[in-house]
Amino acid sequence: MPEGLIVVNGGAPLAGTVSVAGAKNSVLKLMAASLLAPGVTTIRNVPIISDVTLMGEVLENLGAKVAFGNHEVTIDTAPVDSVEAPWELVARMRASIAVLGPLVGRFGRAHVAMPGGCQIGSRKLDMHILGLEALGVAFDISHGFIDASIPQGLKGAPVILDFPSVGATENLMMAAVRACGITTIDNAAREPEIVDLAGYLVQMGARITGAGTPTIEIEGVDELLPVAEHRTIGDRIEAGTFLVAGVLGGGPLTVEGVRPAQLEMALSKLKAMGAELTVAADRITVSHDGALRPTDIQTLPHPGFPTDLQAQFMVLDALADGRSVITENVFENRFMFADEIARMGADIRIEGHFAFIDGVRQLSGAPVRSPDLRGGAALVLAGLVADGQTVVAGIEHIDRGYEHFERKLASCGARIERVPAEKVTKRHV
Ligand code: EPZ
Repeated sequence: MPEGLIVVNGGAPLAGTVSVAGAKNSVLKLMAASLLAPGVTTIRNVPIISDVTLMGEVLENLGAKVAFGNHEVTIDTAPVDSVEAPWELVARMRASIAVLGPLVGRFGRAHVAMPGGCQIGSRKLDMHILGLEALGVAFDISHGFIDASIPQGLKGAPVILDFPSVGATENLMMAAVRACGITTIDNAAREPEIVDLAGYLVQMGARITGAGTPTIEIEGVDELLPVAEHRTIGDRIEAGTFLVAGVLGGGPLTVEGVRPAQLEMALSKLKAMGAELTVAADRITVSHDGALRPTDIQTLPHPGFPTDLQAQFMVLDALADGRSVITENVFENRFMFADEIARMGADIRIEGHFAFIDGVRQLSGAPVRSPDLRGGAALVLAGLVADGQTVVAGIEHIDRGYEHFERKLASCGARIERVPAEKVTKRHV
């Protein structure tokens, strides 16, 4: 069955301005959090990406009414009459697990399919389960489903996470807002998306302090109300992806709609590599000329270097003037991209969590396949500067998290086009 492709002809200089969409990894959780209160809520700055459409389907399957507008979604959760997230939906998007906390918080029940692993790792849920059990949730996990109930009700409790898991922090927050008493989450995730979610919950009437720090305190309340409207923060990962494009294509390329403070570590690595950066309240301009300096990167929970920018920065190191080491500390298998970019001539050796990268003078265009969402975007970036043509398959991965990715790059001068499945010919593959 033919599939759509993105075709890139390398070498065009890149300059211009790109507006980033709302943060995928926030809006999915805001949509899930809307389940906590019956009524109508509107979330603005919503990206037009397939994961958001899928979360809409998850909510509709629960009985909610979901209407998408121009970069916004209106959700009526009053008709919600189910607590089931079925396998056929959860299997298509693991982030569906974000309905677990709100369903338990509002209904005291949830029946959610286990998402299973994905290309980048096993994506376990033990921290979600352990944390919720501390709040009084009883689990029966069998036949691929998580069945949650609260035989003695939800009670606030101290929870400490083994690892600052984004998803576990979110599910815990969304259940704890309805627990009786105080919940503290220690070693909590500090990502900007956590702060956005906490802000949304507070707008619903929740009592939350400490979001964005390692310790979040939630005082449960008896009732939450729907949020009339909330604007999602900009997508810092989309922004970082385009900043890498600006370095590769020379720039100046301006990314607007994101707060630079949310990308501090990534910006410091761009500077270390030799990029010039100008920063304003909600925009960042990047340019670069000449050689790239090899730069080591360690992915870590926020405010460390974001794992979701690891593949994109590997493209820069692959073209740098020497040896770099990238250490992936968050996921156990997030180097598949390295195998694909090696087909374009990159010199990368993987040893466990370490990628040893020896920069090459130029990459060469080739047919490649997206291993995952961020790896797919990084392959397109590599194609922007490779010699000749790069044909990227598996672009459904890219469409999960990037709105009009190739259009935004083309608006900055990239020679790039999307070839829909029905137009793919032998010439493309
Ligand atoms: C969120 O995933 C993001 N996804 C990921 O973005 C991002 O890479 C990740 O956070 C880290 O920042 C969404 O928000 C939808 P974690 P999440 O729980 O919540 C392990 C993208 O490209 N772990 O912080 O699943 C887990 O296996 C995606 O946009 C457990 O072992 O991340 C992983 O190795 C990719 N047990 C590590 O922790 C648990 O109970 C971090 O996971 C939970 C997690």
